[in-house]
Amino acid sequence: MSTIVLNGRELSQTLLKEQQIQVEEIVRLKGRPPGLAVVLVGQDQASETYVRNKRGACAKVGIFAPDINLPADTPQKELEAIIDRLNADPSIDGILVQLPLPSGIEKETILYRIDPAKDVDGFHPVNVGKLVIGLETLAPCTPTGIMTLLDRYHIPVSGKNAVVLGRSLIVGKPMALLLMARDATVTVCHSRTAHLMEETRRADIVVAAMGKPLMVNRDFIKPGAVVIDVGISRNQEGKLVGDVDYAAVAPVASAITPVPGGVGPMTIATLLDNTIRAFCLREGISLQLARTPS
Ligand code: GUN
Repeated sequence: MSTIVLNGRELSQTLLKEQQIQVEEIVRLKGRPPGLAVVLVGQDQASETYVRNKRGACAKVGIFAPDINLPADTPQKELEAIIDRLNADPSIDGILVQLPLPSGIEKETILYRIDPAKDVDGFHPVNVGKLVIGLETLAPCTPTGIMTLLDRYHIPVSGKNAVVLGRSLIVGKPMALLLMARDATVTVCHSRTAHLMEETRRADIVVAAMGKPLMVNRDFIKPGAVVIDVGISRNQEGKLVGDVDYAAVAPVASAITPVPGGVGPMTIATLLDNTIRAFCLREGISLQLARTPS
């Protein structure tokens, strides 16, 4: 049995091409492109790279993405005033405040000030609540991108045993909700889980998002399982590695995401998708979306 490598880099390029066509149609219909404000506070090096990649992807598809870079010592009140301005700005459909924020800024106060209709991260309690209920909403980009990856590779989810490793608000919890919404049987594991390996060995789909480099080895995985690696860390040689030991796990998995080039690029493509969706919801239009056949 050969293992399918779930190539998020390649798929994200396909999605970006589809989005470019959607943006052209939006401009024809409404006279302006969708707008995404990516707010960067401080000079965290990893964040600078992520933000550059996000803005670069926007430029590629024609989404308006003004640079909003603020010093690390920006006062809380000033950042709140900037969010208020972006909430009121008709050219802005999505607002993303890059995390982590410098110490001294209260994260929740900032994130929950974003208009839920512009909350392309899906972090606002209104959007989290809608996701729980099963209403149409903007859901967090990484787990939504993983669902897109599974779908575009025709990997069935309904009725499958899915184990999510990690219970963060950004990945683990929304991942569990999205899988449940698609009729998977979902188990969420975390640092206090008693018999972790027993849980993962029952899984048809494993999503590793606990931020522990190379923790998932061959013994965690049932032969033929689908393995999704959300982790991203640097090892001692400075090489990027995931939460999954790819070399050990790939031979037993039926499908697996590489690091880098798996989940990461899907997150960015999904951010653009969410921006286009926020535009359409706000403007009350629905697009007959182009989709590349697979
Ligand atoms: N930093 C790392 N991941 C994310 C994310 O998904 N959204 C935001 N806003 N910041 C992040």
